Amino acid sequence: MLPRDLSPENFLSTYWQKKTLFLKQALADFQDPLSAEELAGLACEEEVESRLVFNTSDNWQLKSGPFTEQDFLTLPDTSWTLLVQAVDHWFPAVKQLMNKITFIPDWRLDDVMVSYATETAGVGPHFDYYDVFIIQGQGSRRWQLGQHCDENTALKENSELKILQEFIVTEEFILESGDVLYIPPGVAHQGIALNPSLSYSVGFRAPSHAEMLSQYAANICAELAEDQRYSDPDLKIQANLAEISQESLAKVKTLLTSLLHNGQDIERNIEQWFGQNMTQRKYPQHTFLPESELDIHTLSEALVQGMELEKHPATRFAFYRKPETLLLFVDGHGFDFSNTDATLNELLMNLCDRDIKHLNGLDYLSSSPCLNLLCTLYNQGSLIEAE
Ligand code: SIN
Ligand code: CO
Repeated sequence: MLPRDLSPENFLSTYWQKKTLFLKQALADFQDPLSAEELAGLACEEEVESRLVFNTSDNWQLKSGPFTEQDFLTLPDTSWTLLVQAVDHWFPAVKQLMNKITFIPDWRLDDVMVSYATETAGVGPHFDYYDVFIIQGQGSRRWQLGQHCDENTALKENSELKILQEFIVTEEFILESGDVLYIPPGVAHQGIALNPSLSYSVGFRAPSHAEMLSQYAANICAELAEDQRYSDPDLKIQANLAEISQESLAKVKTLLTSLLHNGQDIERNIEQWFGQNMTQRKYPQHTFLPESELDIHTLSEALVQGMELEKHPATRFAFYRKPETLLLFVDGHGFDFSNTDATLNELLMNLCDRDIKHLNGLDYLSSSPCLNLLCTLYNQGSLIEAE
């Protein structure tokens, strides 16, 4: 995706999270991996997150999906945009677009949002808290970039779309099919379609500090019992009963610190929690469990009969390597492997390879740790039978 004279290292040090970058014809001869009609079809599905935005020159109205065929039949010719989140979960060819970003770790990638905009349509000047690569498909859009924003930046009142009160345009680009625009977090932007146009936004995961702390704490809380409570069998008489004594506060400080450490090894807790958390699926409420579970025996037989496995498009894999141990994380589950042999190691690396298409299960028939893992991942819906 990057031009020859811009190495991934230079992209990271000069642009990533710092500066916008326009990449003319980064994906030359770009073919749209889906049509506007297919996108509209997705937006009619219950489990798909979709929005329609209707605009005039200074007003933007949001309507949330799912939509019906009738909704699409009654739309005006211009000035509306259909936005559909996580299209990579449904169209493997859209997921391939995300995989073109070969210089950012998998766990930082979020999804590919696809938008179809009619002439003069746009979702208004706004900023996002995460990085985005906008890949232009069919048609063309004018993108305007502006000032740096933060949580104190004034937004228009009563605007669910978080439209900026003031947009100071500093740069402008016309994106045509195959052009890519990288926008770091906090930079004001808006795109306006010059003709019916599709664009693909690869978004990233950037958990807020508050989310990280509350989720880490929730993880610990889940293991605490009701009867683990503040207690003070050593209570002493106080001169003033309104006073919170130094002894009580010291007790609370020690308690909170030890709870955050979870009484054990804090490093291990953070490694486990973070890997599990960052591989949670985008929509964990959607389960993709197989119709019937397989045991190792049935799985080996199926593999011998020619069953091939592939990763579910919504699945998320990551690993963390420590001396002697590899922690594998899949869709929020953690697996601990120590002293892996060559076969298991190869399977783990294949599983974590974002470009792998089919897994050849036959390679792993003679290894019970490998079969065990394949079986567990199949039964939790992370691996599915390849079509
Ligand atoms: C769009 O595709 O119209 C909106 C994408 C964005 O600004 O984040
Ligand atoms: Co945006």
